[in-house]
Amino acid sequence: MNQQFKREFVEALTVLAKLIEMRDSYTAGHSEKVSMWSEIVARKLGLSREEQEKIKLAARLHDIGKISIPDGILNKPAPLTEEEYAEIKKHAALGAGILSNIESLKEVSKIIRHHHEWYNGEGYPDGLTGEEIPLGSRIISVADAYQAMTSDRPYRKAFSKEKAIAELERGAGSQFDPKIVRIFIGILLGERENLGKD
Ligand SMILES: [Fe+2]
Repeated sequence: MNQQFKREFVEALTVLAKLIEMRDSYTAGHSEKVSMWSEIVARKLGLSREEQEKIKLAARLHDIGKISIPDGILNKPAPLTEEEYAEIKKHAALGAGILSNIESLKEVSKIIRHHHEWYNGEGYPDGLTGEEIPLGSRIISVADAYQAMTSDRPYRKAFSKEKAIAELERGAGSQFDPKIVRIFIGILLGERENLGKD
């Protein structure tokens, strides 16, 4: 794939991700921020430029499977019932399935499939544990959780940065890869030092 075509291809996919996010005003811009955080973590881990790009793109597209979730569930201003939650959970495998048909996105698709796995095996869709979970998925999981916690939702106000950090620490080793949590918090605190505020 030549460089210009590749760039345009990624832009087209980004437009698709934006269109899907527009269905839910509360999550507008969410995956763009998750993508930004994920790229910073991937860089900090010293991954190759190519790996960084894959993880960044997977983060941008991680929730495209939500296209199939009914509006009534997606925009419900209250906690979900068990059945509704089961419906939402399908989005990880669905999103991966959509992209798996594109040869150059096979790895991106795999990262998306596993972005809701838990480090201790209690996540979905496959119950993978630890390093069985693709590194990109483990990164997106932390970035996604932080971004969601620090944003307003229909049923709760945004958490402060400090409360979100405490939640990430609480989930380190169970929901999240503890190494990624450490790096992520380091980035958050470093950013605070650099800015000299908040
Ligand atoms: Fe998701």
